[in-house]
Amino acid sequence: MLKLVVLISGAGSNLRALLDASADAEFPARVVAIGADRDADGLALGEEYGVPTFSVPFTAYPDRDSWGDALIDEVRRWEPDVVVLSGLMRLVPPAVVDAFSPNLINTHPAYLPEFPGAHGVRDAIAAGVTQTGASLIVVDNSVDGGPIIAQERIPVLPGDTESSLHDRIKPVERRLLIQAVLDIANSHLDLKELARS
Ligand code: GRF
Repeated sequence: MLKLVVLISGAGSNLRALLDASADAEFPARVVAIGADRDADGLALGEEYGVPTFSVPFTAYPDRDSWGDALIDEVRRWEPDVVVLSGLMRLVPPAVVDAFSPNLINTHPAYLPEFPGAHGVRDAIAAGVTQTGASLIVVDNSVDGGPIIAQERIPVLPGDTESSLHDRIKPVERRLLIQAVLDIANSHLDLKELARS
């Protein structure tokens, strides 16, 4: 059984998809803990699904590095095989990358390397492109520039707003994430190998 710690900042809708998938006895992974950098709405999913939660509030630490060190301690307690950043809206400091990468993966609502950063959906709309996408990457010390695990194109439709487009991207992010977790658990995807190439 692959053990996952999932880190969030928001509603955790991608996390919910992972929790639903792992409710199936056949699914080879389990979310062993949910963590957040703030009082995220998605932490409520812990109670709903009977999964422990923790919070390492970014604002409670003097700087990013000390926050990162506290996050490492909390995550390590759960001995995860993979740490999933599922809408964690913070850049993690290098110590976090050193501690967990390549077993540290991130979903992103754009077709990387297009539109990296915190506003991938808004930036795609602003650029007037006719297609964007969803990506799943290994986290490294760049901003959304790590090795790409999987990605898929999604059209931008006339009249799309940030929220309508994001609503169509998220289900694709979920599908890519769940498939990757399956592939890692079944040894069809080797993150070490991917990060080396
Ligand atoms: C996802 O699109 C993720 O890629 C982005 O934030 C969203 C998370 O949404 N960084 P949710 O918290 O899973 O609903």
